[in-house]
Amino acid sequence: MTIRVSAGDDENVSIRPAERADLLAVTHIENASFTQPWPYDAFERFLDEPGFLIAEHEGDVAGYVVADVSRNFGRRLGHVKDIAVHPERRGIGVGSALLTRILAVLTAQGARTVKLEVRRSNDGAKRLYRRFGFEPLRRVPGYYEDGEDALVMIRKLE
Ligand SMILES: CC(C)(COP(=O)(O)OP(=O)(O)OC[C@H]1O[C@@H](n2cnc3c(N)ncnc32)[C@H](O)[C@@H]1OP(=O)(O)O)[C@@H](O)C(=O)NCCC(=O)NCCS
Repeated sequence: MTIRVSAGDDENVSIRPAERADLLAVTHIENASFTQPWPYDAFERFLDEPGFLIAEHEGDVAGYVVADVSRNFGRRLGHVKDIAVHPERRGIGVGSALLTRILAVLTAQGARTVKLEVRRSNDGAKRLYRRFGFEPLRRVPGYYEDGEDALVMIRKLE
């Protein structure tokens, strides 16, 4: 019997900072998830950053998120740069658990707002972000290399 857990409540999902030993699994998931995947060294640069988190499910690396904080006219802006879950572990709350934790990390870093870009056609991810309080801000024509538009979504943090 499959039980659909509510977002982030699966006791088998745990979130922790990324380590070098995770990078092969991370790039494997990245390659399985995106047509323009980040290379290994792009992740390497975020090691030791508070915004690079790993989700473990039943002891395996199941997903990750990469985010940072920059200054925008004196205000701190969080940016979720990359998030993906292993194709076989989607739909059980791993992505939601990652989002929940990264929003807390960005808040702790002083971010007042958080933004992300999502492919216009990525309805699943857009639904997930809306559920987390993100709202569409603007469309960026041709943002992706294959010409697809991005939707920029933002959310205020408390
Ligand atoms: C978007 C993504 C990170 C969500 O992770 P997840 O662990 O599946 O998320 P959750 O389990 O918390 O579920 C969130 C929603 O995604 C849906 N979903 C998305 N892809 C799914 C899949 N392959 N299987 C099952 N459910 C999926 C869930 O049904 C749920 O939506 P709903 O509750 O409105 O039905 C994941 O689907 C993924 O890695 N996609 C490919 C990479 C990507 O598009 N990243 C986002 C770029 S902006």
